Amino acid sequence: MNIVFDKICFSRGNRLILNNISFHINNSETIAILGGSGEGKTTILRLLMRLLKPDSGKILIDDEDITTKTEEQLRPIRRKFTIVFQDGALFDSLTVKENVAFYMREYTHMSEEEIDNNVRKLLGFVGVEHAINLMPEELSGGMQRRVAIARALAVQKPLMFLYDEPTSDLDPFNAARIRELILNLSNSKRGFIVVTHEILDALKLARRFMFLKGGSILFDGNKQQFLHSDLKELRTFLGDWNEEIKK
Ligand SMILES: Nc1ncnc2c1ncn2[C@@H]1O[C@H](COP(=O)(O)OP(=O)(O)OP(=O)(O)O)[C@@H](O)[C@H]1O
Ligand SMILES: [Mg+2]
Repeated sequence: MNIVFDKICFSRGNRLILNNISFHINNSETIAILGGSGEGKTTILRLLMRLLKPDSGKILIDDEDITTKTEEQLRPIRRKFTIVFQDGALFDSLTVKENVAFYMREYTHMSEEEIDNNVRKLLGFVGVEHAINLMPEELSGGMQRRVAIARALAVQKPLMFLYDEPTSDLDPFNAARIRELILNLSNSKRGFIVVTHEILDALKLARRFMFLKGGSILFDGNKQQFLHSDLKELRTFLGDWNEEIKK
């Protein structure tokens, strides 16, 4: 699958968030989109899923322009992706089992037994099977994130995963477990885009790095290029990491 952002502009009110952004990616890539808070990282993922519409420019998925498609036409395109949102919100009033089962009930005709088996398999896969009957509020942040990933996996085999700040608010151990899960879910044909301001996530996960600032992609390159770039804005963003990188 090929994804093309072609001269995308997007504004909120009178503020231009994305100013003429263009890039090409394919679904086997592992990409980190880095940038400070409010620079438009989440916006890029929302545009890619056509949860937002650009002011101008085209977004092509396998040569099809999604900016002009109807909700009905978007459905099969959206199914190529699985997105795990920034807040990873679970449904508060539902148990872990019902959270993971939610889209199976919504979109499939599985029997109760099939649902139960599938939920257990998914929870086992993300390592929280023991929590199946708990309520979200009884789980730690890391467990909630894993349940959210299991729920996102429940109804589809995506061509590409989209993760929005997958490790935010997690302790280092749980952050590492989520990164491991992200890597385990990807393979040579199924990559991901991870949107993050955590340098460690980017370094551990991605082979391609994009840096977003002031509405533009100021940097797009591989790890070596990223680590050794002398772009001033990027070095400033990297902060204390500059010292670590030099070691
Ligand atoms: N619903 C909205 N209405 C108005 N402005 C919004 C809305 N959502 C986002 N924005 C603005 O759009 C800009 C980009 O937001 P976005 O969520 O893409 O940033 P981000 O890079 O993901 O930030 P963070 O790292 O904090 O998640 C921000 O300046 C934000 O204030
Ligand atoms: Mg965001």
